[in-house]
Amino acid sequence: MQSNIPFNRELVNEIISKNKTKSVGAASIREVKKIIDDVESATGGKFIRMEMGIPGIPATQVGVDAEIQALKDGVASIYPDIYGTKELKHETSRFVKNFINLDIPEDCCVPTVGSMQGGFAAFLTLTKMHPTKNKVLFIDPGFPVQKLQCRILGIETEQFDVYDYRGEKLRDKLESYLSKGDISCLLYSSPNNPAWFCFNDEELQIIAEVANKYDVVVIEDLAYFAMDFRKDYSKPGVAPFQPSVGNWANKYMLLISGSKAFSYAGQRIAVMVMSPELFNFESDMLEKYFAQRNFGRAMVFGSLYALTSGTAHSPQYALTAIFKACNEGKLDFIEALRDYEKKAHIMKKAFTDNGFNIVYNKDLNVDIADGFYFTFSYPGMTGVELLDELVYYGVSAISLGITGSKRTEGVRACVSLVPHAMLPELEVRLKKFNQDHPIK
Ligand SMILES: Cc1ncc(COP(=O)(O)O)c(C=O)c1O
Repeated sequence: MQSNIPFNRELVNEIISKNKTKSVGAASIREVKKIIDDVESATGGKFIRMEMGIPGIPATQVGVDAEIQALKDGVASIYPDIYGTKELKHETSRFVKNFINLDIPEDCCVPTVGSMQGGFAAFLTLTKMHPTKNKVLFIDPGFPVQKLQCRILGIETEQFDVYDYRGEKLRDKLESYLSKGDISCLLYSSPNNPAWFCFNDEELQIIAEVANKYDVVVIEDLAYFAMDFRKDYSKPGVAPFQPSVGNWANKYMLLISGSKAFSYAGQRIAVMVMSPELFNFESDMLEKYFAQRNFGRAMVFGSLYALTSGTAHSPQYALTAIFKACNEGKLDFIEALRDYEKKAHIMKKAFTDNGFNIVYNKDLNVDIADGFYFTFSYPGMTGVELLDELVYYGVSAISLGITGSKRTEGVRACVSLVPHAMLPELEVRLKKFNQDHPIK
């Protein structure tokens, strides 16, 4: 590939101003995408695109086959059971046992239209369980849309960047929020989007203990299920298992997405797995809003019904077939995902060899794992300034500022859409950037 960078600055500036955007670094992901599309078509050059978290590998084939078959069999004409198909509930419960080692009844496993809907329905329902507990606590950095969901719902949020509160320090930090008595639920993703650290058992136990003490519901967002490639979570029924707060928490909910682990983002399918104690919880507040005293029924026949009347029929068949194949040991879903690990390793080296730093570089006392995302910075620049400048070098990413991170110098990179063939070009561009921006 021929490098023609940096791109002509005047041309790029003209495109940026035509897009009515002052700064690429401060623009939304969609605005960045539009500017980059325009620069690519005006210059004929290709960007190294790291801004969007889209799977970069084909959808899991057993899912596609099952979904096609279900459509041929006529499911498209029938409203799906809002509770989820019997088979999906069954395979989900088995999957949770096989890969997390938790015993969850089939009833408590419900499909959602992606974890995006799972989160929305969770915030909507969990903040209406109790008269005084109506806020959501985010253990950040995190997925910005979840805060947008709360804003849309009129739900107040609190947040903190957990990077300085790992390990035992997490206990006091959580106490300081939960002891106020107004937090209904807390949410984190592990592996973390954007920083890619993973909470260990000690931390998950701390989260559970503090949440149990103040009767707070834990939402564990497993969007990157089993994608901590340092451990092999691929064997059904065999340790190690995906670490989970469910080993200790009373009231919790797992959001398991089909999007990344099974590259099934396009069909918008996930499962919400509720602990029996949460599912069976009853309150007058729930009755008032959902005409159901029982949490599980309020969630399914209240929130999920009102939002989308359930989850589309054919993707439920897809996820059933995927879970079944995993449960029976016929599908090693981690194998295909390991390409992200390989790419992250090469890309991070290209950055650090050329003067960049990895921002969230430690996972407790070890180096952060290689995975779907990593974070970087450049000495003397804020994240926004860095993104503004990288655009001339044909490199795009997003600022950590929008993720609830305190590290405003940082930028998030997603490895999935960068083809292997472009990795040498990334190195060339970063070298040029480094030459043009000498570090003082
Ligand atoms: C942390 C996190 N949660 C949830 C989601 C949404 O997942 P889904 O595609 O299942 O809606 C994402 C997607 O990027 C994510 O990164």
